[in-house]
Amino acid sequence: MVTLRQWHPRWTAVFLLLALLCCLFAPVVSVKHDNFKTCDQSGFCKRNRQFADDASASSSWMSPYTLDPASVSFKNGQLDAVVLKTLKEGEEKVRLPLTITFLDSGVARVTLDEEKRAKGDVTLRHDSQARKERYNEAGNWALVGGLKPAAGAALNSEAEQGYTKVVYGKASKHQAIIRHAPFGIEFQRDGETQVKFNERGFMNVEHWRPKAEKPKEEEKKEGEEETKEEDKKSEEQGEDESTWWEETFGGNTDSKPRGPEAIALDITFPGYAHVFGIPEHATSLSLKTTRGGDNAYTEPYRLYNADVFEYEMDSPMTLYGAIPFMQAHRKGSTVGVFWLNAAETWIDVTKKRNTANPLALGVEGHTDTQTHWMSESGILDIFVFLGPKPQDLTRQYGELTGYTAMPQSFAIAYHQCRWNYVTDEDVKDVDRRFDKFNIPYDVIWLDIEYTHEKKYFTWDPLTFVNPDKMQKQLDKRERKLVAIIDPHIKNTNDYPIIDELKKKDLAVKNKDGNQYEGWCWPGSSMWIDCFNPAAIDWWKGLFKYDRFKGTAHNTFIWNDMNEPSVFNGPETTMPKDNLHHGNWEHRDVHNINGMTFHNATYQAITERKKGEVRRPFVLTRAFYSGSQRSAAMWTGDNLAEWTHLEASIPMVLNQGISGFPFAGADVGGFFGNPSKELLTRWYQAGIYYPFFRGHAHIDTRRREPYVAGSPYTEIITQALRLRYQLLPAWYTAFHEASTTGAPIIRPNFYIHPEDENGFAVDDQLYIGSTGLLAKPVTKEGADSVSVYIADDQPYYDYFDYTTYSGAGHHTIPAPLEKTPLLMQGGHVIPRRDRPRRSSGLMKYDPFTLVVVLDKDGNAAGTLYVDDGETFDYQMGAFIHRRFSFDGARQALTSSNLETGQRTVKCEKYLKTMEKVRVEKIIIVGAPKAWKDKSEVVVMQEGEKESQRRKPMPMEYYPADGKKAAYVVVRDPRIYITKGWKIDFGEKGAGHEHHGHEH
Ligand SMILES: *[C@@H]1O[C@H](CO)[C@@H](O)[C@H](O)[C@H]1NC(C)=O
Repeated sequence: MVTLRQWHPRWTAVFLLLALLCCLFAPVVSVKHDNFKTCDQSGFCKRNRQFADDASASSSWMSPYTLDPASVSFKNGQLDAVVLKTLKEGEEKVRLPLTITFLDSGVARVTLDEEKRAKGDVTLRHDSQARKERYNEAGNWALVGGLKPAAGAALNSEAEQGYTKVVYGKASKHQAIIRHAPFGIEFQRDGETQVKFNERGFMNVEHWRPKAEKPKEEEKKEGEEETKEEDKKSEEQGEDESTWWEETFGGNTDSKPRGPEAIALDITFPGYAHVFGIPEHATSLSLKTTRGGDNAYTEPYRLYNADVFEYEMDSPMTLYGAIPFMQAHRKGSTVGVFWLNAAETWIDVTKKRNTANPLALGVEGHTDTQTHWMSESGILDIFVFLGPKPQDLTRQYGELTGYTAMPQSFAIAYHQCRWNYVTDEDVKDVDRRFDKFNIPYDVIWLDIEYTHEKKYFTWDPLTFVNPDKMQKQLDKRERKLVAIIDPHIKNTNDYPIIDELKKKDLAVKNKDGNQYEGWCWPGSSMWIDCFNPAAIDWWKGLFKYDRFKGTAHNTFIWNDMNEPSVFNGPETTMPKDNLHHGNWEHRDVHNINGMTFHNATYQAITERKKGEVRRPFVLTRAFYSGSQRSAAMWTGDNLAEWTHLEASIPMVLNQGISGFPFAGADVGGFFGNPSKELLTRWYQAGIYYPFFRGHAHIDTRRREPYVAGSPYTEIITQALRLRYQLLPAWYTAFHEASTTGAPIIRPNFYIHPEDENGFAVDDQLYIGSTGLLAKPVTKEGADSVSVYIADDQPYYDYFDYTTYSGAGHHTIPAPLEKTPLLMQGGHVIPRRDRPRRSSGLMKYDPFTLVVVLDKDGNAAGTLYVDDGETFDYQMGAFIHRRFSFDGARQALTSSNLETGQRTVKCEKYLKTMEKVRVEKIIIVGAPKAWKDKSEVVVMQEGEKESQRRKPMPMEYYPADGKKAAYVVVRDPRIYITKGWKIDFGEKGAGHEHHGHEH
């Protein structure tokens, strides 16, 4: 959804003029830059960049922060102390309470607050009702675990004068070295420094101070000249006060009742040339520098959730969501920081090349990545991760903020959306056409036009006459409906929802404490404040089937515009001095706002009907750390252009390593009409987004897969079928994400952390742990792609088993009908090969296992299956198997990964699945020695020796040029719930016992 500015004719005129000028001078840029601040236009960002420049420029610069050694205490894994900020000579030092908690997981958490504000010992301006403290509740929303302090952490008594040291982490491998003056911290692993705080002295806590009002008379007399003189004076003293007390942008004035309160710190990763993370930006996976260097940006990366109209490619500009989690990677080590702050945040990234010292033999040159974090308000709260593997970071970050929720199985199939399917008949017609063309899909979506005058929880009585009947038709093929519900509530007379919102006083307030009124889709609107538990309770009630009439068990929800988007607000969002529950300013909680809303919707869907327990599905546009627990996300309003297709791959990969992997981009591009080639290529790429949805703007032509015509429709259908065929592999990857925090699609560095040449590779992806390596085509007219292979395993073409081996780039044919997909040797890939109309209809379909042998002739893989719908899996109702092919014993086995007691729920579930077979086994890269074989011996758990089966036929297909040899075993009469073994070796080998399971 997009924010159009049609409501105001004057704006439209200005916009048209601007658009015209843009067309003349810069045809590619379509984002309205003027709507969004640059660092220079954001007071605290400008001040802190200036602070950093001053610190860097002066050789005698001393950071004014020191730790008072007398204040240090250490108890139960936590260090407490006070950091003092020195002001001018003679002024009282500012006391900043510090805590460093050493967590059981090996992660350290550093917080720094400001005593005066924390005690409320300050006065706010403009009689503000806002809270006086620095915001310290971000953790309440973002964190769900992992906070147990480490029992083993201890002060190191051998610390030299001027330092405090704490050893912590597994086997005491970690150490925090706290320097007292100036204050700084180094985090070490195995004696080597990995992360440094305040190395460059950019730490800056803007302490509370009263506004020094100028005497009135003087003010009156002052002419322009004199004012400038005054400004200069304060600049000379090193402080630019012009944005301390008030800031105006785009005609909106922020009253800033607490004055300047930014918090900033430099964080250095010594020896790390690559940093990743901090979504959401349309940029490369390996983050570019922002203050000089090759191909650098000039602006810092910004995190301030915003409705960015037709966003720009290759830019550090803010987008819809924010995850302040950054990882630094080098060969042999991954470390990271999570900056837990929900206010507007900017991050500068620079790299420092240290050349080798020619006298120090064997010491190579290395690069440090230096970062500078700046937030407008809140306390300092940082988690430090010391790895050493990328998997350690995603797991530990997931322990803190939660793993991605296990979705219903339909949610990972294909979603068909458009702004808008205009009537219920239209929906039914689209549904029928998918069937007519034999194209699989699971979900059809309704954008805002289904509502009666943009009043959520209503249906347009003229166009959606019979939603129940529509849902019933969808349900016949186990299909679902997703309807949009946004956080802005129409402020109008004949609408019970707004009456309740007002009466119960559950809306966000303006700075004066009155219910805030702004402009959005419905015109005048108010915004539900989901920081308020009472608002969440009320929201839950609105989704009950008897309340939101026309919805059914197969209706799910899309939360859009929840940054929040406010058409007439500053930067298209809420004024920062608005007030939320508890009188926290919007400034403090902005980036969390969207998450509280989609979480409330998630909770609401779990309670629509008593006794109905299904996993909810909610799509959100705005997000924060923790959003993965209750939503999927998409990358917002992209364009039907090749560059947007290309950018979607690193963006979705970045979501994966940043703990929110259920992500995708609008297939086809939201704005504009894609060429048929672009649309086709986008589907071929979209099948690799964990969240896979086609979507289009209201002004675009229809583009459902059947519209394009031959051969495009057939090719798109093939791509969709490939997604459906691999759903078992995708579902297994989702399960892994939901239990370990591992990304669903994974970048090269995550799979091959030792391969330096591949650290920046972000245009290809691995699906989960399956070894499937996809390289989407993102260039117009391409008929081949270059795939980067990192290791010495054989890689086989998914479709014809052509072999590619050797580290480096390989050219792979990619005519329009082909999406390049390779299988890394060493894996067993589960599939379901029968084409169906929806994933729900595949529930009891048999499996195919593709066994892809590695260079030593081995392979292994896993499969996770559950009912795809309820929460019974949390009570053991699932199948989790490991398949492995042992090259030495020439046997493929299925074993149970779940060794615990079987629960009643589990038994019941297994019963429903007991007839589901493995109907086909393909072994790719089959040994030459098998060419004369024609039989295999099959054994299954529960069968007695005396019931030994007769050998079964196997087909051997010899290698053909570069195409690998393979064998096929058809219907070996084995079951997915059972342990079994297929022996490809000598007949005698079958006498061995296979492990029975219990
Ligand atoms: C989600 O909703 C639950 C239930 O109301 C609440 O306890 C929790 O704090 C919410 N979390 C977020 C992130 O909004």
